[in-house]
Amino acid sequence: MKGILLAGGSGSRLYPVTRCTSKQMLPVYDKPLIYYPLSVLMLAGVRDILVICAPDSLVPAQRLLEDGAHLGLNISYAEQPEPRGIADAYLIGADHVEDEDSALILGDNIFHGSGFQELLRSAAERQPGCTLFGYPVSDPERFAIGETDDRGNLVSIEEKPLGPRSNNAVTGLYLYDRDVVEIARQTRPSARGELEITDVNRAYLAQGQARIEHLGRGYMWIDAGTPSSLLQAGQYVEFLASLQGVRVACVEEVAARMGLISAQDCWELGARMTNSDYGAYVMSIADDLAEAGRT
Ligand code: DAU
Repeated sequence: MKGILLAGGSGSRLYPVTRCTSKQMLPVYDKPLIYYPLSVLMLAGVRDILVICAPDSLVPAQRLLEDGAHLGLNISYAEQPEPRGIADAYLIGADHVEDEDSALILGDNIFHGSGFQELLRSAAERQPGCTLFGYPVSDPERFAIGETDDRGNLVSIEEKPLGPRSNNAVTGLYLYDRDVVEIARQTRPSARGELEITDVNRAYLAQGQARIEHLGRGYMWIDAGTPSSLLQAGQYVEFLASLQGVRVACVEEVAARMGLISAQDCWELGARMTNSDYGAYVMSIADDLAEAGRT
């Protein structure tokens, strides 16, 4: 399965901060926002990832993530000159996806919860069609809202409805079969001038090939695209780190635990950041893995 991490856009809801840096590089407590969606793709078993950035953000993203080899990944990059819509990711990423299934994640989406890896892996195996992930929210007007039957089949989906039918938001993680590129090519710009991912999902719905996996109360999902949600995300991550010693979305840890890199490689990544708590944590994970017999 191929992966696309869509990290473009102007970040205008975070102005003035995002006038000089991209949203996806902003810190969520101890690490850049982009680590969170990247770790989700890794947990889903994706190794080949295209990161799509606004022109100004390309160089910082490349400096941070390089070619991904240090994490056992293959990361490539593409520019999105203008925010033409989320479905544009599949026009830009058509050659990357080729004829494979794919996962698309938005660069400001943060997921956390136990059993998430298993849920992702089993959803990733359940093609054809598309699988969306739903989450209950208190402000449904901000999101796509999806309704399902009792077997999880999508029966309706609306982008930012004025009168939402429910509070089941469709999150920014999408799993598609190989038809997605063609479907995205047939999508036309909406009234706000964007290629809407909701129109792509509606096309799958029309074929009876769309499902929603509802993330229950045991999960946390935040679209960290506003000052408040960015702060709340940071507070959540800090809370878990200080209370339980758990670091959400430590990509070096994910890579090492998944066997994409060795314990020694992980230790060396941590040693490059030895002055920070984050670096010390990465080294401690490597030590734990080595003690448990992992090389
Ligand atoms: O977070 C989930 C929601 O994301 C979904 O429920 C909605 O269906 C979906 O449209 C989207 O809504 P947003 O209002 O959050 O979309 P926004 O325009 O803010 O874009 C989301 C992210 O994608 C943001 O980090 C910027 C990036 N993006 C967006 C567009 C339109 C791009 O990289 N390129 C783009 O052209």
